[in-house]
Amino acid sequence: MKNDEPFTDGAVETEQRRGGLSRRSVLLTVGGVASLAVASEVAAQPISDRPPAASTGRVRLVVNGRQHELDLDPRRSLLDVLRETLDLTGTKKGCNQGACGACTVLLNGRRIVSCLTLAAMHDGAEIKTIEGLETNGELHPLQSAFVEHDGLQCGFCTPGQIMSGIGCIAEGHAGSPDEIRFWMSGNICRCGAYPGIVAAVADAAKRA
Ligand code: FES
Ligand code: FES
Repeated sequence: MKNDEPFTDGAVETEQRRGGLSRRSVLLTVGGVASLAVASEVAAQPISDRPPAASTGRVRLVVNGRQHELDLDPRRSLLDVLRETLDLTGTKKGCNQGACGACTVLLNGRRIVSCLTLAAMHDGAEIKTIEGLETNGELHPLQSAFVEHDGLQCGFCTPGQIMSGIGCIAEGHAGSPDEIRFWMSGNICRCGAYPGIVAAVADAAKRA
């Protein structure tokens, strides 16, 4: 996997410049006009036609061993509830659409991307986040292995990598570097710290 792939196709953009007008400027102009049109339509909508605000529902969650009873809008993702309601910001929001793994937590012992599930669907569930791994001031063995093997650079993906690594080991999918790479492939590291991540998971799996 290349870590330095550009997001834009510069060659195409340059080729499509005509008379000082680039594809980017056309898209920006059209996008701007379209969003203005949508905004004025919404503003013009009579209040009675707007969808009603969702009611809240009571949801019980056990997060890192602590019981919480929360009144939640049923449309809120588990990720948003963890970060915004419970202030557990160790779980990261990368893509918010299930593509990067930064939001991985353990739900009833199984790894899950918390941006793709609604908190209200998990009444009574036990959730473990990165904040819940330390015991009596001691790092979890996989956290220590990440430090030992340089399994991180900027650290943004690291909580998700570690929670996913714990799940991967518990599932018995950490028998070889290839197996770890395959079963951890949903966790993207933009810094490309993969060699250290794989080594850390392999090491922790051996000691488990
Ligand atoms: S933030 Fe959930 S998978 Fe990217
Ligand atoms: S350490 Fe930076 S994204 Fe993985």
